[in-house]
Amino acid sequence: MSLKDHLIHNVHKEEHGHAHNKITVVGVGAVGMACAISILMKDLADELALVDVVEDKLRGEMLDLQHGSLFLRTPKIVSGKDYSVTAHSKLVIVTAGARQQEGESRLNLVQRNVNIFKFIIPNVVKYSPDCKLLIVSNPVDILTYVAWKISGFPKHRVIGSGCNLDSARFRYLMGERLGIHSLSCHGWIVGEHGDSSVPVWSGVNVAGISLKALHPDLGTDADKEHWKEIHKQVVDSAYEVIKLKGYTSWAIGLSVADLAETIMKNLRRVHPISTMVKGMHGIKEDVFLSVPCVLGSSGITDVVKLNLKSEEEEKLRKSADTLWGIQKELQF
Ligand SMILES: NC(=O)c1ccc[n+]([C@@H]2O[C@H](COP(=O)([O-])OP(=O)(O)OC[C@H]3O[C@@H](n4cnc5c(N)ncnc54)[C@H](O)[C@@H]3O)[C@@H](O)[C@H]2O)c1
Repeated sequence: MSLKDHLIHNVHKEEHGHAHNKITVVGVGAVGMACAISILMKDLADELALVDVVEDKLRGEMLDLQHGSLFLRTPKIVSGKDYSVTAHSKLVIVTAGARQQEGESRLNLVQRNVNIFKFIIPNVVKYSPDCKLLIVSNPVDILTYVAWKISGFPKHRVIGSGCNLDSARFRYLMGERLGIHSLSCHGWIVGEHGDSSVPVWSGVNVAGISLKALHPDLGTDADKEHWKEIHKQVVDSAYEVIKLKGYTSWAIGLSVADLAETIMKNLRRVHPISTMVKGMHGIKEDVFLSVPCVLGSSGITDVVKLNLKSEEEEKLRKSADTLWGIQKELQF
């Protein structure tokens, strides 16, 4: 008899079942690991799988998280280069790929990351054909389209983190100006994640009080208080952080975990995330842009119809044209 047999009287032999609430993170770089730790701290999964191509780094990250098990409530943390470790995931988060260098635009990354996706996505689909795919790698709107095309998944199950982070940054900066917590500062950044994102000034409010109604110049060049600056700061945020610390990680990790919570708990909260917008706001091509989406356990079920001004819609269409111009040249 082993020590274990001396210690324990077995009552029931469990069948070798698989996890019920499994999440996979593909890419264990700065962003992937910030997503992983944020998800673990929120107790969202009964199993977390990590995948990367750099095996030492991957195993090191897995061991480091496993050693924290006493302080976590996710009993199984696995990793591997082989996608069999991802089998039966409910949610697969893709953060793999090249990141921006100092001063590099997100759009510049595109073909490098498409080539990486051609390997990742079919493998994810093979082992978790019913999962929701949450794309974080940049340029996120184009890569969400790429993931949708390669996976063959219905559009509601292919989600881009999109402007979820941009909107969080906007609400933080708005809160700083007003001395009110971000949670109570409401504002939506929509469209393309990054350089051409569109702030919806008409919807900015605290406690339902429209800031635009109180201060009609809000968001315009005529505004003496220069509120437009906070959107510029949002656009410049990633560049600033990358210049200072080399990459961004904590805010994107936290914002992805917030999306993961909505999906895993079927919360049906509304998030500014990237979805297929063909047919909305006069957009005629297969492009993914951020709009307010109702999110739950089956993915994106609905989109809230925004009341945009004609110049805001024009900006969305311009982003859509830019994205489509790049997408139609991509080699799958
Ligand atoms: N959507 C957003 O708001 C947002 C915010 C920040 C960063 N990002 C993007 O996230 C991505 C990751 O950024 P990072 O700072 O973590 O980069 P990183 O270089 O630290 O990590 C990328 C990881 O991907 C891995 N990888 C490369 N090819 C792979 C493959 N075929 N399969 C599995 N893994 C592979 C690398 O080994 C590396 O560990 C970048 O594209 C970045 O631009 C998006």
